[in-house]
Amino acid sequence: MMATIGVLAGDGVGPEVTREAVRALRAVAEQWGHAFDFREGLIGGAAIDATGSPFPDETCALVAECDAVFLGAVGGPQWSNPAASVRPEQGLLALRGAMGTFANLRPVRARKSLLDATPLKPSVLAGTDIMFVRELTGGIYFGAKRVEHGGTDGERAVDECAYTTPEIERVARVAGAIAASRGGRVTSVDKANVLETSRLWRRTVTRVMRDEFPALTLEHAYVDSFAMQLIRTPSAFDVVVTENLFGDILTDEAAVLAGSLGLLPSASLGATSVDGRSRGLYEPVHGSAPDIAGRGIANPVGALLSAAMLLRHSLGLEEEACAVEAAVDNALDAGWRTPDLPAAGRAACTTGEFGDAVVLRAFTPAR
Ligand code: IPM
Ligand code: MN
Repeated sequence: MMATIGVLAGDGVGPEVTREAVRALRAVAEQWGHAFDFREGLIGGAAIDATGSPFPDETCALVAECDAVFLGAVGGPQWSNPAASVRPEQGLLALRGAMGTFANLRPVRARKSLLDATPLKPSVLAGTDIMFVRELTGGIYFGAKRVEHGGTDGERAVDECAYTTPEIERVARVAGAIAASRGGRVTSVDKANVLETSRLWRRTVTRVMRDEFPALTLEHAYVDSFAMQLIRTPSAFDVVVTENLFGDILTDEAAVLAGSLGLLPSASLGATSVDGRSRGLYEPVHGSAPDIAGRGIANPVGALLSAAMLLRHSLGLEEEACAVEAAVDNALDAGWRTPDLPAAGRAACTTGEFGDAVVLRAFTPAR
């Protein structure tokens, strides 16, 4: 098949992990005879430095022509001055908004080979396999913001949090469809004992599940209690659907279950077309990690698994996606570990060495 893939490497470790993801996609193209056209663009701090904008018009035009977009990471201390009027993160939010990618899929699995990498007991982790579905283009991240000056009491800052019925319905449908293809259970996380948006969220998710997914089991949880249950009994959950801010926080927490934030991939999907595919945005969950940027030691697993999700969800290449995932599993099982994970019988490897283990050793001969 032919596909155009946007590549926005961004800041910090973004370019380092993106390189490995693109290598894996090139290897897939070669192996299966696909023609992938990679188009690079600027985003985040790198885009601010080059153009003054974290999401330049050229990048907006570029992504509109792509079947899928891969993103490394945005942000860094050099652009984090609290007084700054433009920030790298605004570029990522604008990109998600422009692509209409309202459903952010973040799978979290406790692998046998990485049980030693987490502070939790193996007995607690056993069987943990959760698909988070985070609402990505609404809520407090996209509400009106302002700081009011003046008066004698200093300033007053406001971030508006709003959700509409259709915004909740469409993400609930994504969660329902995924749960139907997995364990059949949905946990919806909100703060309905306090927030009006959460009460609308709970009513709407309840109705969508009852009317459209009657075979699924639906449970509701308050976000504070869920944050605790997630660590206490992680294997109790299948699909977790929640709003933008709660999903951001809970998925970083869930990284502890996997062993490292560097392991988590994500797919951000919009409306699906008739063939069931979605023009998606794919990014590792870890962010720009400025403390280790430029040293070649970032964990590329989140990026590699995001590339696998790109193959699956935007290109419909299930066999190829599974091959990349199996190659990553093989490399971890064989003891290849970047320094964010405890060593497994051999010295820590670099980002590129892990990529080699996937692309050269595990992946290619497996075919
Ligand atoms: C994430 C990140 C972003 C978010 C930031 C960089 C805007 O933390 O993808 O989880 O909060 O969505
Ligand atoms: Mn985050």
